[in-house]
Amino acid sequence: MLKLAERMGRAKPSAIMLVAEKAKKLKAEGRDIISFSIGVPNFLPGDHVYTAARDSLAKDSGSYGSNRGPDALLDAFLKHLQEGGFEGYERKHVATGIGAKQVLFNVMYALLNEGDEILIPTPYWTSYLDIADILGARSKLLYCSPEQHYKLTAAQLEAAITPETKVLLFNNPSNPTGMVYTHEEVRALADVLVKHKIWVISDDIYNRMIFDGLGYAHLVKARPELKDRVILIDSLSKTYGMPGWRMGFVAGPVEVAQAIVTLNSNHITNVPEVVNAAAVAALTGPQDVPVLKNKEFEAKRDLVMAALGKCPGVICPKPQGAFYVFPDISVSYGKSHQGKLIQNDVDFCNALLDAKGVACVPGSAFGEPRAIRISYTCPSAQLPDGLQRIVDFFAELA
Ligand SMILES: Cc1ncc(COP(=O)(O)O)c(C=O)c1O
Repeated sequence: MLKLAERMGRAKPSAIMLVAEKAKKLKAEGRDIISFSIGVPNFLPGDHVYTAARDSLAKDSGSYGSNRGPDALLDAFLKHLQEGGFEGYERKHVATGIGAKQVLFNVMYALLNEGDEILIPTPYWTSYLDIADILGARSKLLYCSPEQHYKLTAAQLEAAITPETKVLLFNNPSNPTGMVYTHEEVRALADVLVKHKIWVISDDIYNRMIFDGLGYAHLVKARPELKDRVILIDSLSKTYGMPGWRMGFVAGPVEVAQAIVTLNSNHITNVPEVVNAAAVAALTGPQDVPVLKNKEFEAKRDLVMAALGKCPGVICPKPQGAFYVFPDISVSYGKSHQGKLIQNDVDFCNALLDAKGVACVPGSAFGEPRAIRISYTCPSAQLPDGLQRIVDFFAELA
């Protein structure tokens, strides 16, 4: 009997996709479904992005591109970094890939041997754990409760790092919680990290989606001496409404960027030229769409929070970024809805979808079985209806 590689036994399909698929199936059957499940921004980039893509097609050379990415794109990303306050990065420090997910996979592949320890603050974005599992790394989950606003504390980090630790995965703003670390919190974490020689993968893809005038803090800006071991991950998917275009970036030490280029040269070769051209236009063109959408998401966040405030016993720290809310709904456990007993987050999401046609993702997909994730990027007209259905669902629990 021929067998797949052992590592495939550790590979799992994305749990978020499973919920999205079920919601899609119900919709196809004619059910009135409102999806709060998948993390898509649900808007399109500005016209200039499409114009650049069309121009690129008209000039297509038909040949392979650079494994790192074309200079125009690297320079556009470097400018974007500089405007964000990240100094001293050059082309040799950056590389591109097929979305942040593929870049992350490459970075983790480049850093982690089998058995190496990676610290993953929990709740986490599902793929961190799944990629670590595929690579045979040892994930140490650092549980961050709703009471601590789902954020890793400096004391927790200090206590978790041992001589075995190789990498910390840090995501700010966070998917699934939407939480944003303050300057003080980031500074405290950076102060711990300077004392311990470990790599840090900083998944920054929601860095432009921050509300309440909070501002964006970063480990490298807090302690610039960390620059030689903090690896920045960015993407156009969320900020620019371009998830399907698949453009991701990495910035970090020369040897890490070079490792990504070497891996690219052995699998993807290059991101398609038409996507590269669209990406340059997104980064360098008018920024009104991302700015406008950020305002819209902030207002939607307020609507979600107001609705959850009407659900007795639900605990929900107020998110200040991305487009997710992550309420602790465990007050419903042990209760029933229309005769269906709810014992956990999966039961809750199934009952909500079946009874009210609202799709959310069970928190256990992110390592927090007391919560669910609400992704609130649906059309504005649908949001109040979807939220009211959740409020009604809670009111009907017995
Ligand atoms: C925290 C986080 N990192 C990375 C990604 C992957 O983004 P991309 O579409 O660029 O692959 C996502 C997508 O949902 C995400 O939420």
